[in-house]
Amino acid sequence: MKNNNNQIIPRIGLGTYNMNSQEAEEMSYAAINYGYRHIDTAAVYRNEDGVGKALKRIFSDTDLNREDITITTKLWPGGLVKVDRIKNKEGTIKSLDKSLRNLDLEYVDLYLIHSPHGKSKRLDQWETLLSQQEQGRVKNIGVSNWGINHIEELNEKGYPLPSANQIELHPWSQKPELVEYLKEKGIDIIAYSSLVPLSTWRHKDGENSLKTDQMYQDSKDLESPFKKLASKYSVTEAQILLKWALQHEYAILPKSIKIERMKDNFDLKFTISEKDMILINQLDRGGSVTWEYGDPLAIQ
Ligand SMILES: NC(=O)c1ccc[n+]([C@@H]2O[C@H](COP(=O)([O-])OP(=O)(O)OC[C@H]3O[C@@H](n4cnc5c(N)ncnc54)[C@H](OP(=O)(O)O)[C@@H]3O)[C@@H](O)[C@H]2O)c1
Repeated sequence: MKNNNNQIIPRIGLGTYNMNSQEAEEMSYAAINYGYRHIDTAAVYRNEDGVGKALKRIFSDTDLNREDITITTKLWPGGLVKVDRIKNKEGTIKSLDKSLRNLDLEYVDLYLIHSPHGKSKRLDQWETLLSQQEQGRVKNIGVSNWGINHIEELNEKGYPLPSANQIELHPWSQKPELVEYLKEKGIDIIAYSSLVPLSTWRHKDGENSLKTDQMYQDSKDLESPFKKLASKYSVTEAQILLKWALQHEYAILPKSIKIERMKDNFDLKFTISEKDMILINQLDRGGSVTWEYGDPLAIQ
């Protein structure tokens, strides 16, 4: 599945975090009909069943087959808070069983360990993913929110390295050191929360994050670099942010429960000039903001 650039999944996928099952079903069905070929879900999103239902309908209503669609889901490793039991090997297999049952699939294309919170059991979880890959229940295996130190643990043990690492990446959090390491190791980079700099990013009640008040204020600034570039290229701000990621060769996972936005987020047939890419590259503000519990990359 890997091509020359270590890319193991279609570059544009639909994100489904903060969607309930019904929304995940409706949006996955609409997105695949529109041209998306990758859907990103996770056990912890509690909407895998919705994605599964959308796939059933797609396979019956269209000429598309299972092989045409890439499905990513994620193992919740445990360990986020005290009562969140860390998964051992058996727990990891049971989680995969449940995800496959929810999705009503025989295999997923990409299975990720959602974060490094499994700590002393990270190696057990990785060994389990390797065994499940051998059994054909997952085509590719990878990690999410793992930093260099976490991946080096696998390297030191001589294990095959993850095929992909899904991380928070956008102009305000560019993580150059980690990106360089992943490229050097041939690990596909999947960017999540590409739209953090938008004023509409997770602005509803209950959609928590560590996005600061200053960031929210800057998102609204009518003179912001993203607004200016959007107007220059006659596209939306969202399209600028997503195209910036694609031009860095990251896969992207824009999430929206609005059909028009879902379409916008897929229609990225324009090019940001090298000069403007450099301008955006200069807007890095450092660390992650998506996880309200703190940056998972910082876990020991
Ligand atoms: N591995 C991880 O730890 C992790 C963490 C976070 C996310 N992810 C994955 O990455 C996906 C994307 O990340 P995300 O959900 O944080 O955020 P995102 O896709 O960067 O942004 C989604 C937010 O922006 C709004 N939005 C979407 N398209 C828009 C557009 N064209 N114009 C204006 N506003 C727009 C959405 O609102 P509406 O829905 O109301 O349109 C929503 O509030 C997730 O769904 C999930 O699959 C993974």
